Amino acid sequence: MTTPKVTTVRLQRMARAYRQSGALMAAVELGLFTAVANGARDRNAVAERLGVTELNADRIVTYCLGAGLLEQIDGALKNAPDVERFLVQDKTAYAGDWMLFTKPDWNEWGVLAEHLKNTDDPVVLGAYAEWTVDDARKYHSATYAIGMGAGSRFVKLVDLSARNKIIDIGGGSGAYCINAAKAHPHIKAVVLDLPPVVEVAREFIAANGVSAQVEAQACDFTRDPFPDGADVAIMASNQSLYGGDFIREVLRKAFAALEPGGEMHFIGHLLNAERTGPAETATWALDQAIKHGTGHAHSVADIRRYFEDAGFSEIWDGDFLPNMLEWVRAVKPA
Ligand SMILES: C[S@@+](CC[C@H](N)C(=O)[O-])C[C@H]1O[C@@H](n2cnc3c(N)ncnc32)[C@H](O)[C@@H]1O
Repeated sequence: MTTPKVTTVRLQRMARAYRQSGALMAAVELGLFTAVANGARDRNAVAERLGVTELNADRIVTYCLGAGLLEQIDGALKNAPDVERFLVQDKTAYAGDWMLFTKPDWNEWGVLAEHLKNTDDPVVLGAYAEWTVDDARKYHSATYAIGMGAGSRFVKLVDLSARNKIIDIGGGSGAYCINAAKAHPHIKAVVLDLPPVVEVAREFIAANGVSAQVEAQACDFTRDPFPDGADVAIMASNQSLYGGDFIREVLRKAFAALEPGGEMHFIGHLLNAERTGPAETATWALDQAIKHGTGHAHSVADIRRYFEDAGFSEIWDGDFLPNMLEWVRAVKPA
């Protein structure tokens, strides 16, 4: 048996992966995929619609063809299926804002080594502590773009027909509760988040016409009590902002707040039990080094243990969105 030859190929690709990010984000910002969806069939038409030179249209189109974002069929440009669904403006599933969500951190990732050398004590919640309503609106116009898809997936995967009240801890835009309310007109839901976020959540709730079912309440989940009477608790995509002690405490409080027989769903980027991956999860913890926060990467095994310590039973884990989001759920004994 021959040993595979060791080369620099994957290292080179990784070292320059920022170019891929730059190209994808530029294509979104320029509206390339929207132009193709609306009939720009070749590089010249792209140049005209985007207001860029033919030379630069050729550069970005050629990259997108090479990266599989665009296809060329009988000489005509076409968006790849995921691009057509998620990166064409004015389509319901448009997620361009989410693709640009982390771009403000771009320069800081360029000096990550400096951030990792920082030995000052990190602060709980790092950069988010000073948020204004405008910051929250910008942030959550991006999380809403992707969260509505996750919320819709949640209500398809979880039978909520016999449930009455949901609390969504750190619920952000309210996407999970909005979807649950639309699917189940009898359900009431409370989005719990920091004061500036709650104002923005109310805007999304109203825009979706579910204000009679869904409310947003200011609640710092590290300090404040949770409303009682809920039989479903959700915590999604905020674990990497915190260390284990905080998450353990939140799960304890959720257990206390839930009705007997109630269920809790924990969804997010989580590590495997050996803490050897996935790398995507680890990048959210590296991001905390940039924000100078205390957050780090939790494993599925950590979350299972926190559930167990809090008193939950029927603990289960699996994929929520394969290759992206893990899911741990559990039940408060009746
Ligand atoms: C990445 S967003 C996720 C939002 C939502 N769960 C979703 O999946 O779309 C993280 C949310 O956690 C909220 N958050 C962070 N720390 C919090 C705290 N101590 N109390 C309440 N909310 C908090 C943030 O304000 C933000 O809205």
